[in-house]
Amino acid sequence: TRNGIEFAVADLEAAEFGRKEIRLAEHEMPGLMALRREYAEVYPLRGARVSGSLHMTVQTAVLIETLVALGAEVRWASCNIFSTQDHAAAAVVVGPHGTVEEPKGVPVFAWKGESLEEYWWCTEKMLTWDGEGPNMILDDGGDATMLVHKGTEFEKAGVVPSPDENTSDEFRVFLQLLSASVAADTGKWTKIGEGIRGVTEETTTGVLRLYQLAAAGELLFPAINVNDAVTKSKFDNRYGIRHSLIDGINRGTDVLIGGKVAVVCGYGDVGKGAAESLRGQGARVIVTEIDPICALQAAMDGYQVKKLENVLGEADIIITTTGNKDVVLVEHMAQMKHQAILGNIGHFDNELDMAGLQRYPGIRRINIKPQVDEWVFPDGKSIIVLSEGRLLNLGNATGHPSFVMSNSFSNQVIAQIELFTKYEEYDKEVFRLPKKLDEKVAKIHLDALGGELTKLTKEQAEYIDVDVEGPFKTDHYRY
Ligand code: NAI
Repeated sequence: TRNGIEFAVADLEAAEFGRKEIRLAEHEMPGLMALRREYAEVYPLRGARVSGSLHMTVQTAVLIETLVALGAEVRWASCNIFSTQDHAAAAVVVGPHGTVEEPKGVPVFAWKGESLEEYWWCTEKMLTWDGEGPNMILDDGGDATMLVHKGTEFEKAGVVPSPDENTSDEFRVFLQLLSASVAADTGKWTKIGEGIRGVTEETTTGVLRLYQLAAAGELLFPAINVNDAVTKSKFDNRYGIRHSLIDGINRGTDVLIGGKVAVVCGYGDVGKGAAESLRGQGARVIVTEIDPICALQAAMDGYQVKKLENVLGEADIIITTTGNKDVVLVEHMAQMKHQAILGNIGHFDNELDMAGLQRYPGIRRINIKPQVDEWVFPDGKSIIVLSEGRLLNLGNATGHPSFVMSNSFSNQVIAQIELFTKYEEYDKEVFRLPKKLDEKVAKIHLDALGGELTKLTKEQAEYIDVDVEGPFKTDHYRY
């Protein structure tokens, strides 16, 4: 704690560098800056106490400071152990008007390279406010939401289940943390859950978890699915990945991508961006899919569609983008080429069988540098694994660039305002933002790029049965 602000970051002295990059990012985030202007004197988030769990990057710093500008109090943690940019975390703590000696910003609990224990400690700190708890969650991947839900569930039951041999390391640490707090018998998580008006969720994986909770009737508060705003998933997941996938591979390995065979597992929004990113560098790209529609899309886009087991011997790079588990198993890894690169860009590391790799008889791990490991099989052949199987664009590089995140985060801010101010109108279910707001976010960013939008005449609008001012598409339109 310094100047009354609690924090845990790597190096507060890095704040000046962070502030410079935040200043540059603000210009590249016209959506967030427009929201700051629009609500300059309204403060729609006054009274909001937002607990945020989302990659603590420069772009997120601009999001956090937008929430603050709109009146919110905020506490933050990263949603991944490798994704924090330490200078951004420091700058957020110091704040635009503070100094290292006298920080005036926001409590942040995040640094690059946390252990799992530290990760869950940070997540708990971010949710633990002095006095009253948070009344809003802003989540990415659903870990903060899960902590509140599982905590409430175990408090009601009075016990925390013990881990068995199938429990992942991550969940084991999570259960340890909850055991301690449930044993303390303070009803902490139940109280936090009761105080929350809603959660806004950033990503595909977190949204899936929310729909599962809602279907089971277990959702404790309403949720807005930000991911499925068109200006989020069709832009961030795709064009963001197109930029940041090769950024991660290049910073991690600096291996020439052109001419190599790259396999992209999954051809959803992220997979489409990943394949394009690699093709843009001249790689020969092969796609694996389980869904015939996405597989056909890949074929029509000019990629070969194959089963993973049939391309292991030729792949120089394999990237998973599925949001599913067990996509590349250790048996697959053992058949990869010498010094082939393996990485995941989906939300959780269980897309790759990292546990199986660690247990493989005779395996040796040589750390090359942070977030780059060479795993040597007993026959002497090795593969290069990025970010220990965690999302490599944030582990090996700096994630998506500002402009695309401005789209995503504008939706986040709008969703936070919506749930904070109108929570009583929402049931405990998962909602999406109205299309009109999606179009508004797109318009701001189109204007910033100097794009000219054609205006419908009244007659044209009537002919295609839309309003002159939009929305321009039906809800089932797929873009
Ligand atoms: P999506 O649902 O659009 O795409 C996933 C695709 O993987 C689907 O087409 C599905 O059919 C396919 N798939 C599922 N299991 C498969 C398997 N065993 N083999 C091959 N294909 C399989 O989801 P989206 O939006 O593309 O997100 C994917 C993941 O990326 C999620 O975990 C999401 O949270 C994460 N994400 C990561 C970002 C980052 O910056 N690293 C940014 C945005 C999303």
